[in-house]
Amino acid sequence: MRKKIVAGNWKMNNDLTMTTDLIESVKSKLNFNTDTQVFISPSFPFLHEAIKKCKGTLINVTAQNINENESGAYTGEVSSSMLKSIGINSVIIGHSERRQYFNECDSTLLKKVNKALSENFKVFFCIGENIDDRNNNNYFNIIKQQLNNTIFNIDKIDVNNLIIAYEPIWAIGTGLTASPDQAQEMHSFIRKLIKDKYGSKISKNLSIIYGGSVKPSSARDIFGKTDVDGGLIGGASLKAQDFIDIVNSI
Ligand code: 13P
Repeated sequence: MRKKIVAGNWKMNNDLTMTTDLIESVKSKLNFNTDTQVFISPSFPFLHEAIKKCKGTLINVTAQNINENESGAYTGEVSSSMLKSIGINSVIIGHSERRQYFNECDSTLLKKVNKALSENFKVFFCIGENIDDRNNNNYFNIIKQQLNNTIFNIDKIDVNNLIIAYEPIWAIGTGLTASPDQAQEMHSFIRKLIKDKYGSKISKNLSIIYGGSVKPSSARDIFGKTDVDGGLIGGASLKAQDFIDIVNSI
């Protein structure tokens, strides 16, 4: 059985007080019978506090980035061992904002994924096409290429440690959610690629989540699609009630 997952990517938002308030609010509203895995991803300075606040709850805390090196002269970077030392064991890698604004290319992303997996991190690996590729009907090629250049270089994948997040760039922060059919079409394409590469057992058990302007009003229809196993939520995860409504939409 595939895991259902909803993760809130808080990006570069909120100060310490806002972060802790949001965590308290999410904690108080979360239904403790849920079998959905729930993640929140505050900014680096607040991860330790978030870990402490979420201890003993169903909320997992994940990092938004990781450096591929062990340690050393990499000013401004954060290593896997630093994250581990505060109790973080999952990370988002390959977000389109990292690719676009911080020039993270496929080869760097592969190094990051390899480093994170080798340290037993759970990796949310993001892929997605831009608006031109969508309009030119080139989106399947782009997604295939992104996978071929990155995680498909890994011999064996552990479905407990890898989650694919399909995030069409044109849907991120734009209010333009992919339609449930568009999401399903791409998720089933990705699952087929996984099957061809790693076999049907892996493809059946790997969670593929959708991200891009998911709102409480759209979540249920998107999550209702066969190959959509949850969501990676940006803007709507900054409002506790919206985030909880999305979690409850699975
Ligand atoms: P929005 O939900 O704000 O579109 O962001 C999605 C996203 O980028 C999650 O990683």
